[in-house]
Amino acid sequence: MQKILNADPDVSGQYGALQAVPMLDFSREYAQIREQVLSAITEVCDTQKFILGPAVERFEKAAAQACDVMYAKGCASGTDAIWLALAGLNIGDGDKVITTPFSFFASVSAIIRSGATPVLADIDERTFNLSPGTASVIAEKEKIAAIMPVHLYGQCAEMDRFRVLGEQHGVKLVEDAAQAFGAMWQGQPAGSLGDAAAFSFYPTKNLSAFGEAGLVTTTHEAVAERVAMLRSHGMRKRYYHDEIGWNARMDGFQGAVLEIKLHRLAAGNERRRAIAALYGTLFADAGLTAACTSAGIVLPYVDQRGTHIFHQYVIRAPRRDALRDFLNNHKIGSEVYYPLPLHLQESLKFLGYKLGDFPVAECAAKEVLALPIYPELRDDEVETVVEGIRRFYA
Ligand SMILES: Cc1ncc(COP(=O)(O)O)c(C=O)c1O
Repeated sequence: MQKILNADPDVSGQYGALQAVPMLDFSREYAQIREQVLSAITEVCDTQKFILGPAVERFEKAAAQACDVMYAKGCASGTDAIWLALAGLNIGDGDKVITTPFSFFASVSAIIRSGATPVLADIDERTFNLSPGTASVIAEKEKIAAIMPVHLYGQCAEMDRFRVLGEQHGVKLVEDAAQAFGAMWQGQPAGSLGDAAAFSFYPTKNLSAFGEAGLVTTTHEAVAERVAMLRSHGMRKRYYHDEIGWNARMDGFQGAVLEIKLHRLAAGNERRRAIAALYGTLFADAGLTAACTSAGIVLPYVDQRGTHIFHQYVIRAPRRDALRDFLNNHKIGSEVYYPLPLHLQESLKFLGYKLGDFPVAECAAKEVLALPIYPELRDDEVETVVEGIRRFYA
C-alpha cells in the first residue's frame, strides 16, 4: 500500500521503452471489413437511396431482433435518439426526468431539448450508474414523468429496481443505452428494458457507424410511429406536418455499415470481455489492486445480474492525473469519462445545482481512468498498459 501511495512518477529508464498502445485504432477493424463495407456503400450509391431507404430498414429490423423488441427506428445521432425516445413518449414541456450527473453531456442536454427538466440523482459508487435508492428518494418528493438511467461504460443500470420504481410512481422508463449495445440485465438485452431506449453509433461506440447515427428501440407501436414521424419533420403524409418534429433521419450509408457491423458485434463484445478479464488478472498479479484508491487501483465492478460488454474498461486510480500524464508520455492511450459531472457544467448552472450536491459522482470524476479496450486490441498491448501502470506506481 505504501508503495503505491509513495509512487515515484517516471522510472521507465530502468526498464527500457514500452510500445505505444493507442486508445482506439479504427483502422484495424476497417482492414477486416473494407471490401464488405465498400460494396455495401456502393450498393447505396447505385440505388441512390441516401436517406433512410432499404439499407436503414434492414438494419432497423436486425437491430430490433438483437434488442428483442418489436420496433427500432434509425436516426441521426444518439443525442437525437434520446430526444426522440422522450418526445415519442410524449414527454416534454413541464415534465421532469430523473437522470445521472455522471454521463456524457447529451444525456442531460437532450432532456432539455425535449422541453423537460432534468432532475439529477447521485450514482452508485461501484457501478457509476444512477442509483435506484437516490432516484427513489427524489421520486417520493417530486412529480416525475420519466426516469432515464444511463448504462454507463457498457454495464446496465439496475433496471428491475427502476421498473418497480416506475410502476410505483406511474412514470416512464427510458434507457440511455448509447454505450451498451449487446449488454444485458437479468437475461434481457439493453434496449428492451424500459418503455423506450436510445443508442448512439458515434464512431467510438462498440457498435459504430462511419459518421453520426443513432437508434430508438421500443416495444410500443405508438411510440415507434411517433418517433418515425418526429424524425422526419413531424410528417406522416408527405408535406403535411402534424407536429414540428426535426430532421433527425439516419442516412443510407450508415445503415449499410451498421448492418455489417451488427453481425460482428457479439464476437466483438466477447473479445472486450476477455480483454477485461485479462486486465483483471494482470493487475492482480502485479499486486496493484485494492478495494479503495487510498490503497491501490480499484478494478471495474461487474454486477453478476447483468452482462457487462465493456464499452469502456474504467479503473479508479490513485493520483489519476499524474498517471494519465505518465501514460501519455509513453504513448499509452487513456481517457477520462468524465472529468466534470454534469451538475457542475457551466451551461447547466441554471439547473441550480452546486458543488457537493452529488459527492459520489464528484469523487468518481476525479478518480476514473478508461484504458484501451476494443476487439482488435492485442493481449501483448494489454500487458504493456498494465506494465506502464506498474512502472508508474513502482
Ligand atoms: C451516454 C451517452 N449518451 C448520449 C450520447 C450521445 O450520442 P451521440 O454522440 O451519437 O449524439 C453518448 C455518446 O456520445 C453517450 O455516451
